Amino acid sequence: MTLSTIWDRLDAQAGRVSARAIATLFHDRNRAAAFSVRFPGQSAAAVHGEEMLFDFSKTNIDEDTLELLIELAIAAGVQARRDAMFAGRRINETEGRAVLHTALRNPEGKVALDGQDVMEGVRETLLRMRGFAREVRGGGICGQGGPITDVVNIGIGGSDLGPAMACLALAPFHDGPRCHFISNVDGAHAADTLKDLDPETTLVIVASKTFTTIETMTNAETVRGWMAARVSDPGAQFAALSSALDRTADFGIAPERVFGFEDWVGGRYSMWGPIGLSLMIAIGPERFDDFLAGGAAMDAHFRSAPLRSNLPVLLALVGLWHAQVLGHATRAVLPYDQRLARLPAYLQQLEMESNGKSVTMSGQAVSRPTGPVVWGEPGTNGQHAFYQLIHQGTQVVPCEFLVAARGHEPELAHHHRLLLANVLAQSKALMEGRGLEAARAIAEKAGFVGDELDRQARHRVFPGNRPSTTLIYPQLTPRMLGQIVALYEHRVFTEGVILGINSFDQWGVELGKELAKSLEPLLAGGARPETLDGSTAQLLDFVAAAG
Ligand code: F6P
Repeated sequence: MTLSTIWDRLDAQAGRVSARAIATLFHDRNRAAAFSVRFPGQSAAAVHGEEMLFDFSKTNIDEDTLELLIELAIAAGVQARRDAMFAGRRINETEGRAVLHTALRNPEGKVALDGQDVMEGVRETLLRMRGFAREVRGGGICGQGGPITDVVNIGIGGSDLGPAMACLALAPFHDGPRCHFISNVDGAHAADTLKDLDPETTLVIVASKTFTTIETMTNAETVRGWMAARVSDPGAQFAALSSALDRTADFGIAPERVFGFEDWVGGRYSMWGPIGLSLMIAIGPERFDDFLAGGAAMDAHFRSAPLRSNLPVLLALVGLWHAQVLGHATRAVLPYDQRLARLPAYLQQLEMESNGKSVTMSGQAVSRPTGPVVWGEPGTNGQHAFYQLIHQGTQVVPCEFLVAARGHEPELAHHHRLLLANVLAQSKALMEGRGLEAARAIAEKAGFVGDELDRQARHRVFPGNRPSTTLIYPQLTPRMLGQIVALYEHRVFTEGVILGINSFDQWGVELGKELAKSLEPLLAGGARPETLDGSTAQLLDFVAAAG
């Protein structure tokens, strides 16, 4: 079957099942197990606390649909493309680059690019990172005022979101200096972050793959000035993470303080290597190794598991069913884990920068909508904010819940019980809803009668039949976080291959950057070009008038 025939059949399937209530699928007593996958899927793993369960049974996917979706993956060549990626082929075709971030988490592996071994460099950099992190943590590398108490990572996008998300996620494992992140060019970010820090005991890490990003370079200069006011040799308290070694040298950072990586590591896939240095300093090299091992375990699974039990592939297929077949324009990522508060922002870059494209690999317009809008907030907070729309609004928002079976605060076990009760309640409420009869009974109990009873009842109806998935794992550890991040990376990859797009470039961020460059002089009073549009001119006038 060709790809377009399979898409057509999926459309027909969607038409057939549109009126079916998801809840009725559970008449099949085996549904929950059949529409779930466990990773790694062996009881020994469960004993070690590594097992995760992805339950997609609360969706309208049935065996026929799943079979079609898997045929879609096969027809799109997911397996061959996956193998090409791991083998170091230049699958990022618009930039002529290989995609080898997976090599960073498998330092003992073997990967060659154009016949050249890449692993020696990976191992060497990892060794240097470990040595540096140990020295910073142990006091071997100090600031002018003594041992390093605080680390400031200056970066944006992929050079910020990954380590910032992971540092918060793994807070229970921190036993090194405190980590802070400055990303926004808004001076408020630097000012608020620096205000409580001591420059004499702060280490600054400038994280930028290109070392040209205007936000990062502006913040780096500002922070260097802040440090120079108190520290006689600020360079001794700076390090850089970059693939542009000439530019780090121009900035004045000594080569032994520079941790490089190659162009085959995309920014949003880079937290596994040098960009993860702040995380390594916070949790220590051994736990960072556990994080890498989690990612590598997910890689091995993605490469070898049959598609029907392949976790990233299934996550991708569920996503495609909701966004590309049913046409739901957004998906919510809802971690019931306060420490995963930055996961939605991290996934926004990973998914939307990767798959927010309009042309296929060959430059033709895509035939289906591409990446959906990804958004979210931790539960239970979101329940008291936007869940109203998720339950009763006019658009269907497929929800992806994440939760740990156990928290890190045994003394607060009752909090975790409530957290779990809430996440279970939400997916059940979304699926089952509440019909008019039940709503009437509630309104009646509240004392309403006659027409008012009817009116009040209608406001209390929940349409239900709203799909969700749940990813549950024993506890959020470094290894588990590695598994989760790699799972999402491969999900994005799989969706991208099926959509026929290049998930590894990001041309869509360029135009705004170019225009910002040309508008900055106008804010400083420069002559306005005649072609300047009226709205932009009016906004510039407003700024000028505000002084
Ligand atoms: O503007 C988008 C982007 O290029 C992202 O892809 C990247 O993660 C981010 O900017 C930061 O880039 P760099 O690490 O080169 O400073």
